Amino acid sequence: MEWASLLKLRRSIRSFQDRPVPLNLIQDLLEESRLAPSAYNQQPWHFLLLQDQGLIRRISDDCKTNALAHLAENPGSPLCMDVDDLRDPQHQIFHQAPLVVLVAGPDSWPFLDVDSALWASYFMFAAVARNLGACWIGLGKWLQDPALLKEIRLPQGFRISVPLAVGYPIAIPEPKPRAQPRILAVK
Ligand SMILES: Cc1cc2nc3c(=O)[nH]c(=O)nc-3n(C[C@H](O)[C@H](O)[C@H](O)COP(=O)(O)O)c2cc1C
Repeated sequence: MEWASLLKLRRSIRSFQDRPVPLNLIQDLLEESRLAPSAYNQQPWHFLLLQDQGLIRRISDDCKTNALAHLAENPGSPLCMDVDDLRDPQHQIFHQAPLVVLVAGPDSWPFLDVDSALWASYFMFAAVARNLGACWIGLGKWLQDPALLKEIRLPQGFRISVPLAVGYPIAIPEPKPRAQPRILAVK
């Protein structure tokens, strides 16, 4: 696929076909996205691959509960702006994706978030090239329940840096509007 098409077709996908993502395909995407840059080439990313819809639903519920508690203490917080979704008991934050990829790494690594974000860009483009779609689910970082963290086998000292919903899109929406480049200076 050409770069220009990849750029246009990479959209946040929030409705997925009822079709599993083969794990060997995910393995290919994980290998390709290893080419992402990272500070000191530390590649701090590790992956939790979740397909169990019951588990994903429980994670979603915990995230919603914790995000709403945060909102109660911090009204208007930019960390969770979709209040209506959070209050809707039916809403599942991962949009019923057949696969959830949680990127995790050492909490002590100061570049974990930026390294993981770069990795996620590579992963999302690799997904598009294989007719898959993904959506970064920032709300997934609200997972706090110790029993759930144990169940998904998050290692001690690690934290989740990027949650991604992944699957075959039902449709790829047109690109959302983007602001013109805001060049502050050319000197
Ligand atoms: C840090 C971050 C957090 C995000 N969190 C969510 C989220 O919790 N739920 C969701 O549906 N989309 C989430 N998104 C997707 C954005 O809404 C989306 O990227 C943006 O609206 C631009 O649309 P596009 O990705 O289709 O171009 C997140 C994106 C980023 C980069």
